[in-house]
Amino acid sequence: MTVPEIRRIGVVGLGAMGAGIAQLAIEAGYETVGREISEDLGRRAHDRIAHFLQRKVDKERMAADECEAALGRLETTTELEAFADCDLVIEAIVEDLGAKLELFRALEQIVRPEAVLATNTSALSVTEIAAAVSTPERVVGMHFFNPAPLMPLVEIVRAELSSAEAVEAAFGVGERMGKRPIRCHDTPGFVVNRVLIPLLNDCIRVLDEARVSPEDLDTAMTAGAGWPMGPCTLVDLVGIDVHVHASEALYEKLREPRMAPPARIVAMRNAGLLGRKSGRGFYAYD
Ligand code: CAA
Repeated sequence: MTVPEIRRIGVVGLGAMGAGIAQLAIEAGYETVGREISEDLGRRAHDRIAHFLQRKVDKERMAADECEAALGRLETTTELEAFADCDLVIEAIVEDLGAKLELFRALEQIVRPEAVLATNTSALSVTEIAAAVSTPERVVGMHFFNPAPLMPLVEIVRAELSSAEAVEAAFGVGERMGKRPIRCHDTPGFVVNRVLIPLLNDCIRVLDEARVSPEDLDTAMTAGAGWPMGPCTLVDLVGIDVHVHASEALYEKLREPRMAPPARIVAMRNAGLLGRKSGRGFYAYD
């Protein structure tokens, strides 16, 4: 397949990840359209992006006119039809295979056939998502890390039927966004989550085994292992629900006991203690 030069990027879902990806896209100079299910959610995402860009201006890491120009490249919409002239569409909706399949089926009707379709899934199979469309060669994974604007890595995932052109186009976009992209195949958890999810689950099990507080565990891993943020702070940032889902997805595929989510965080997820986004996880937030 011949992939067009990527000029216009669509982002589906403007939650923490999608808004971060849209921010990266406009900062890299791409015309960007972000889709949310309501105008209110679209406005909130726009405000969030404007806030973080303004912080960069305040800290003299970005000129005021660059900030204005970047925001000028951002459009939000509730209509998938707005993706018709996109060269790359990045999906960042809920981690639910059924929802993603439905979305990709709809995108196939709208986005022109040579455009690349990417998923930001962290634990689902890109190959399975690509099965929703009749042109799976244009589907790849672009897995960003939370917070997307700050974390340098993006995993460029080659699914069973991805074309080399689609993979390289996504890689090039990652580079232009200032990231350090890596190429990998579509295996459960790709590279980082394959390692990080069982490790975080071990950390959570240690809370009960060593009868240590979340604060002390975080101190242990930052002061003793050089982590930039402690595991409890990190799981609160990622979202307890997202972490439980990723653990379940990995466990289902690889059956390694360390991948299964510890009972403690399953209970937290069920109780709505989802971390920063709900105001309460291992820690309380304003
Ligand atoms: N979006 C955009 N900009 C943001 C942001 C966000 N979500 N969060 C913060 N910023 C900006 C802010 O403007 C902030 O400055 P101000 O506070 O002055 O406004 C600026 O970035 C710097 O923030 P910090 O001072 O907090 O930066 P830091 O030096 O402490 O580093 C960090 C923060 C990069 C997140 C660092 O703590 C870190 O590397 N933590 C580990 C994160 C990690 O491991 N992420 C991976 C999670 S796993 C995952 O994502 C995979 C998955 O599939 C679930």
